[in-house]
Amino acid sequence: MKKIICDGNTICYKDQGQGEPLVLLHGFCGSSEYWDQVVPLLSDRYRCIVPDLRGHGSSDAPMGAYTIEQMADDVIQLMDALELPKVTLLGHSLGGYITLSVVQRYSNRLNGFGMIHSTAYPDSEEGKEKRLLAISNIQANGITSFVDNMIPTLFAPDHVSDHPEWINLAKEIGYRTPPQGACGSAMAMRERPDRRDVLSASVLPVLLVAGEQDGIISQDKTFTVDQPNVTQVTIAGSGHMSMWEAPDQLATTITIFLDQVQSK
Ligand code: MLT
Repeated sequence: MKKIICDGNTICYKDQGQGEPLVLLHGFCGSSEYWDQVVPLLSDRYRCIVPDLRGHGSSDAPMGAYTIEQMADDVIQLMDALELPKVTLLGHSLGGYITLSVVQRYSNRLNGFGMIHSTAYPDSEEGKEKRLLAISNIQANGITSFVDNMIPTLFAPDHVSDHPEWINLAKEIGYRTPPQGACGSAMAMRERPDRRDVLSASVLPVLLVAGEQDGIISQDKTFTVDQPNVTQVTIAGSGHMSMWEAPDQLATTITIFLDQVQSK
């Protein structure tokens, strides 16, 4: 992987393909590997830049609570280092929360953006409590048991039983999340504000993707705006992980969206 320093931390990233630049962000306890099946379907036409977020994968995991804004600033610093004035930014789940912070503060750096199994809503009060429990759990028991419990909840129930190889690989990726990175990122998600107004105010082309069987973020939490610049797509049979559960369909959806972005 390639490396740059963002805000004093090493951020590792993959840079594959040629064409208009596309930045793909992964979700919580994931890594750039989450996009490994989709990138080959896009890289003939697009330059795909896929970082490991701070606290994840091979990137540095500083101690303490992170903020979604810091994680968004890492994306902007990566773009600066690569001398990319504008990209299309697509974020999976946590990556979508980061995407909306980029939209809010650096909209002029985007050609368009997408939220894949993500939401502009903040955590509910119950959700905030669960973040604290997750952090204590990771601090007390380590990352392995946390990841073992979390990963099966990301996939549609049929896929959990039919594709143990997906579950095992997603767990392997999750185990490589440093505990302080998982805790720092959980705090970032807990503290993120309601950004429904950011989403609805944007005039950029927007892609919203939901999984029909997503048990983490339901369709109504993803589809919070219905206006002409917004494309809404539900992936049938998919849970929270269409990059794995339906990579061809997700890549087709993204390609159609990118064609729209380019025609603007
Ligand atoms: C993710 O996949 O990034 C997380 O499930 C998002 C969250 O916990 O809110």
